[in-house]
Amino acid sequence: MTTTCCPGRKGVTLWFTGLPCSGKSAVADRVADILKSKGFYAERLDGDNVRQDLTRDLGFSKKDRDENIRRVTFVAKLLTRNGVVVLTSFISPYKEMRSHARTQIGSFLEVYVKCPIEVCIERDIKGMYKKAMKGEIKEFTGVSDPYEEPENPELVLETDKETLDESVGKVLAKLEELGFI
Ligand code: ADX
Repeated sequence: MTTTCCPGRKGVTLWFTGLPCSGKSAVADRVADILKSKGFYAERLDGDNVRQDLTRDLGFSKKDRDENIRRVTFVAKLLTRNGVVVLTSFISPYKEMRSHARTQIGSFLEVYVKCPIEVCIERDIKGMYKKAMKGEIKEFTGVSDPYEEPENPELVLETDKETLDESVGKVLAKLEELGFI
């Protein structure tokens, strides 16, 4: 008997990018839960988890961030071509590496999680902005390291203006519109 993986399902990577505390993981987690509950194959790749394993040897210099994204891109590519909806949440501050991910993965939607830095600083979920502003964390994105905004993302989520449910709804609507779900 021959079996086919994920019959009728086209994989895609949803590439969430944005400042620390912009809401990337919150939206991606929720979307992944909903997709799984509906029977879709969905996989999350998240900076905080991946950096404890696949990329634990890397720091936050440009070189290391690029390498982080390069490895994640490779994994996302393999999953995507096997019919999985991959949801990555990485700051991924450099346009060039996001463009590399797009080219490599092919079926790729860039989701810019847009949130003013003042709001991210207020949220400061892990207290890292506070430390970065005191100079205790070096090369911190938005404070002492750059973030290059996406120019033509497929989707923009304005998490300071939308509720979590609204942002999640926009992502699901886009997936539906493009026939991925
Ligand atoms: S990326 O730039 O290489 O894409 P990634 O998304 O994997 O970054 O990791 C970001 C997470 O690492 C943040 O959520 C934060 O918890 C932690 N972190 C630790 N140091 C830094 C730093 N200097 N800049 C940004 N995030 C940092």
